[in-house]
Amino acid sequence: MSIHIEAKPGEIADSVLLPGDPMRAKWIAETFLEDPVCYNDVRAMLGFTGTFKGKRISVQGTGMGIPSALIYCHELINFYEVKNLIRVGTAGSYQKEVRLRDIVIAMAASSTSGINNSRFINADYSPTANFDLFMKAANYAQVHKIPIKAGNVLSADEFYEDDYDSYKQWANFGVLCVEMEAAGLYTIAAKYNARALAILTISDSLVTKEKTSADERESSFSKMIEIALHTLSD
Ligand code: HPA
Repeated sequence: MSIHIEAKPGEIADSVLLPGDPMRAKWIAETFLEDPVCYNDVRAMLGFTGTFKGKRISVQGTGMGIPSALIYCHELINFYEVKNLIRVGTAGSYQKEVRLRDIVIAMAASSTSGINNSRFINADYSPTANFDLFMKAANYAQVHKIPIKAGNVLSADEFYEDDYDSYKQWANFGVLCVEMEAAGLYTIAAKYNARALAILTISDSLVTKEKTSADERESSFSKMIEIALHTLSD
């Protein structure tokens, strides 16, 4: 048991999917895993363990934003010996070529968060994906003809920015989309020698101001989960 996760030792698999929304964790577990068992209800931040193609896999909600996600990642890695962590979430597009429902794999995650500014004074730290997980995910998508995009994403601290157009500065430097957790996940995985990846589905576009409907989100979300589960189990 850790402060925010009530699972007993051994109840969490060494490979975990990380959606932000705990109800999404429940949906993933019930839709994709065999014999899912709920191991956490503390703060209603649901976590489940089941099997996928015979391999034990857990799904843990993280909440929104780096501070919340870091609590769960820290406890999973340090108290439950989790080795592989894949965030599965939504993102807002910063580029007109990155369209609604596209899947983006984060090779690196820039950030407006202070977590690394306070560690690496007057220097930049580049939080990056684990190469093995990245290659497995990209290969699975290629073999199964699931189009993906890959590159730098922004992990923002604020969903509602003061200046809407501030995204253009990131867009001008090639950042594909914005979400709120990947830079924290990549940093903590590097710190504790775990492996991490973030796979994202575009739910809205800052360029065109379009948004996906709940139904559209579900079907594109399924492709992303398929990639993530095969990355952890193959
Ligand atoms: N901003 C931050 N996070 C997001 C967004 C966004 O526009 N869309 C989905 N996740």
